[in-house]
Amino acid sequence: MDKILDSLKTLAQKPLSEAKALPRDVYISADILHHELEHIFGHDWICAGRNDEIPNVGDYLTFDLGDQPLLLVRGTDNNIHARANVCLHRMMRLADGSGHTKKFTCPYHAWTYDIDGRLVAAAYMDRSSCFDRRHMHLPEIRCEIFHGWIYVSMNKDAVPISNLLADLDPLVAPYQMDKYVTIFRQHNVWQTNWKHLTENFMEGYHLPVAHKNTVGAYFGLMDTCFDDRGSFDHFTYQTFTKSSNAPVGSAHPDNKTLTGTARNTSIMPTVFPTHMYVLAPDHLWYLSLQPLGVDQVKILYGAAIAPEVLAAQKNVDDYIAKTRAFLDDVQEEDRFVVENIFKGAQAPLSTSGPLSWLERENHEFAQYLARRLCKGDE
Ligand code: FES
Ligand SMILES: [Fe+2]
Repeated sequence: MDKILDSLKTLAQKPLSEAKALPRDVYISADILHHELEHIFGHDWICAGRNDEIPNVGDYLTFDLGDQPLLLVRGTDNNIHARANVCLHRMMRLADGSGHTKKFTCPYHAWTYDIDGRLVAAAYMDRSSCFDRRHMHLPEIRCEIFHGWIYVSMNKDAVPISNLLADLDPLVAPYQMDKYVTIFRQHNVWQTNWKHLTENFMEGYHLPVAHKNTVGAYFGLMDTCFDDRGSFDHFTYQTFTKSSNAPVGSAHPDNKTLTGTARNTSIMPTVFPTHMYVLAPDHLWYLSLQPLGVDQVKILYGAAIAPEVLAAQKNVDDYIAKTRAFLDDVQEEDRFVVENIFKGAQAPLSTSGPLSWLERENHEFAQYLARRLCKGDE
């Protein structure tokens, strides 16, 4: 593994004009994945969904962060808390899906927890001298909100997400995305390495080709190039100004906040390692990834709509169905690409080639990986 990490480190130190794509071993090595699970997925903030999915006290959703099942619950303090979704008795998974509740009852022996994670009932435990219900709480991990996104981290010392993303804040704030209304959330599993999908999402070079039948037709590729925007340790982004004939991606007339070209401009942030979204003036959609192996990625995929857009629809269900079908088509185009890249990366004769200047974000991602994975680069 040291040889792979050395090559990653050397690559990350190069300027973009000399940069290549990551070497194939970075995608197919089980040792690298193991290292990523510890230093990336056990360390950084992972997006678990959107704040508006659980708006009321007692609303909950479930989310697995690696091997750790989590219960995300809006507690009696009106904040969202992330706790272990594992019973304190014999480690049964407590809940699945999402919903609203006053308590969580374990399906095995009915130990029962309130929405603040306290064990409040456990039958037939009165003869167990080592049992004291008053001290039994589901363990809690870090959970923070940034502009409507829920982020969780297993790292109790993680720097607050709003500090890490301070430079992203002014770029996304005008969209008021925290007010967007979530229309769906689902999980997919694709046969590829998680990094192929992260890299695919963040670069615009492939849009006119791989997405020529959907979103690719409405973008000016040169918009994706910013020579002067600086680079950031915890995220990267691009912006796209769509042509005025694009069917979606423009501000609704009732949106009085965005002005000028911003009314047709979308921003695509990638929050390292795996939270990616397209934020348009009228909608957003997002992915949050976690590896299931070197060859499989679990994808949380969802979308939300600006409230004035939803309010203007005569048939909301129809509008949501059409939006979802369109985004699903875009997803399928990306699935084709990233599953075939992974097949390519496994081929003994494959080599990674030079990056275009339109793939600057990929090089920034390589630099992030090197900071996390290579000794002395933290
Ligand atoms: S494992 Fe939950 S009550 Fe026994
Ligand atoms: Fe894509």
